[in-house]
Amino acid sequence: MSLQERIFDTPSLYRMKIVLLSRVGKYAKRYFKKTWDVQDIVLRFNVRSIVDLGCGRGDLQTNLGLDVEKFYGIDPSFEMVKHASNLTKSFVVGRAENAPFRDNSFDLSVLSSVVHHIPIGKVVYAIEESLRVSSYTLILDNINSNKGFVRLIKNIWWKCLDGGTKYRTLTEWHELYEQSGAKVLYENYSKPFRHFYIAVIKNGNR
Ligand SMILES: C[S@@+](CC[C@H](N)C(=O)[O-])C[C@H]1O[C@@H](n2cnc3c(N)ncnc32)[C@H](O)[C@@H]1O
Repeated sequence: MSLQERIFDTPSLYRMKIVLLSRVGKYAKRYFKKTWDVQDIVLRFNVRSIVDLGCGRGDLQTNLGLDVEKFYGIDPSFEMVKHASNLTKSFVVGRAENAPFRDNSFDLSVLSSVVHHIPIGKVVYAIEESLRVSSYTLILDNINSNKGFVRLIKNIWWKCLDGGTKYRTLTEWHELYEQSGAKVLYENYSKPFRHFYIAVIKNGNR
């Protein structure tokens, strides 16, 4: 775990980071809402049950007030899970690459700002696991630019602030899906500057 990722063991500090980031500018807020419309995905794919893989503080459930029948969450950080389980008891310690659920237990797995923190050697397993436990997987993450200079600057910015393992371009996201046997059903990213990325994928063999 990088120095910057230690914040994941301190829910209150992580909350401060998110609040600070969301105040950075109207641009971020506007595109966050426009690009990451989770409620729209829930309706569009008729989702009644969700597992939030890498749930952190459980903010997805609290902030979005999603109208679903079953909502579970897992996170490797005990402190984050302790915080989230004050909301409901359906949050447990675990990792996306080894999800403690039976096949097809949920309609939707969510990986929200998680994939870029998973060690590179394990990320294919994490996507495969998400597709094993649910019908669809929703990915909300960063997307990197194709242009060399912009990509370099973004990588430096993210590495310093966030400490993740890899910030993928669209091509790299597609390579990851291909390695995991996933098929893309829906995809979008913020424009004009690529920053926020959303995708819904499913198991390509089902
Ligand atoms: C940037 S936070 C996002 C938290 C939450 N998903 C959200 O959107 O608010 C990244 C989270 O991923 C978790 N994480 C890191 N590696 C993970 C893994 N291998 N499997 C599942 N979660 C992981 C961290 O503990 C942290 O809570």
